[in-house]
Amino acid sequence: MGIPAIIRDDFPILRQRVGGHPLVYLDSAATSQKPRPVLDAMARYYEDDNANVHRGVYSIAERATAAYEAARAKVARFIGAAGPEEVIFTRNATEGLNLVASTWGRAHVGPGDEILVTEMEHHSNLIPWQLLAEARGARLKHIPFDAMGRLALDDLDHLLSDRTRIVALVHVSNTFGTA
Ligand SMILES: Cc1ncc(COP(=O)(O)O)c(C=O)c1O
Repeated sequence: MGIPAIIRDDFPILRQRVGGHPLVYLDSAATSQKPRPVLDAMARYYEDDNANVHRGVYSIAERATAAYEAARAKVARFIGAAGPEEVIFTRNATEGLNLVASTWGRAHVGPGDEILVTEMEHHSNLIPWQLLAEARGARLKHIPFDAMGRLALDDLDHLLSDRTRIVALVHVSNTFGTA
């Protein structure tokens, strides 16, 4: 089995056929599919440990809290964070970005400062910065894309300045598939 088939095999939902073809799923930024170990862990949690995290002094609540904090520590190691306290779980990208913009952003972005995004951002990585720029008197600047939908990274030299406080950009465009 090749690598794509091995990876595919981890995801039970991809075993089905749609319209006579094996299901191909490309909307992961909106809803990610879960591989078997994640589905199993979720089922195990709901069957054995489901309870209030940090708000219960009985055994299943303590197990739920331990599992939650163990996940935070594991994620911190995975992303190279300095420690688990740097990891904050949010419901989704939109909530996470709004949190950064309304906490770090309000503390560190002031009048005349600049926020740099790209012209290919999803609303979740645009509106929070638009609102922050408006509230703090900052300027929102955009990295443009070319006719092929590729980011014009050569423009970075003149777009970045000593007033740039944050650069927030998409990894891969959801409309063009380019980076
Ligand atoms: C490309 C892309 N980016 C960001 C988001 C926002 O994601 P979330 O629902 O996690 O806030 C979506 C949601 O559809 C998306 O499709």
